[in-house]
Amino acid sequence: MRPVVIAANWKMNTTPNEAAALAAAIAAATEETEVTRVICPPSVALAAVRDALEGTGVAVGAQNIHAESFGAFTGEVSAPMLRGLASWCIVGHSERRRDQCETDELVGRKLLRCREAGIRPILCVGENLPEREMGMAEAVVAGQLRSALVVLSAEPAPPITDLVVAYEPVWAIGTGRTARGADAAQMAQIIRDGLAEGGWGDAAKDVPVLYGGSVTSVSVAEFLAEPALDGALVGGASLRVEEMAGIVTRAALTARGRVWAADRS
Ligand code: PGA
Repeated sequence: MRPVVIAANWKMNTTPNEAAALAAAIAAATEETEVTRVICPPSVALAAVRDALEGTGVAVGAQNIHAESFGAFTGEVSAPMLRGLASWCIVGHSERRRDQCETDELVGRKLLRCREAGIRPILCVGENLPEREMGMAEAVVAGQLRSALVVLSAEPAPPITDLVVAYEPVWAIGTGRTARGADAAQMAQIIRDGLAEGGWGDAAKDVPVLYGGSVTSVSVAEFLAEPALDGALVGGASLRVEEMAGIVTRAALTARGRVWAADRS
């Protein structure tokens, strides 16, 4: 049975003090322990958020890591540096692919660093609007996944067992437009097929696939109603306590439904 995951991506928002207060408020408003809850603040706020979330069951994630573990990379943060601060990390977010020109190969190397450091990656994939309009969305997502996995499989080590993939159509991020639940569910199937072919085999069916892109406490229901989808990566709405409370409450319904179905089967 796959977990239901709600991950908050605060992007470049909040000072450390603001982040600690917001994290504590969100944790208090989202006590549904059947939902895996993750908060990804800016890196300078990781320690403050870790302290604020202690004992709440809400995990801390970073928004990015460098593709190398150490070295002359001014201003960068590496996976080993996250030890004691964060247990999750967003990898390959479309804003970084766009603004920092991150390639699939680079994203794959970041997955390697996560594996070495025991950090649970949330790998982001998704097509842009011209790609969708040209009917290439599925090929683009499958290609992003395949290219990242090729890098990962090049190193002889066990596969990442705790990978999470977020399908985030670029045209839906921060725009107020969302994908259709059914379309996102179909993409989740393509992602799991890609994982199965890329070395995961049968274990691909256990990889959680999240939807991301303008998720709110209202729109999340359409995605959580799809059995192929396992939660959401939430940007703008995750900065609002009442929105996060609504999203996690809805996610808990799905999580309980899965437990109920598993008990009866
Ligand atoms: P959004 O961002 O919810 O503000 O669209 C989602 C994301 O970028 O992960």
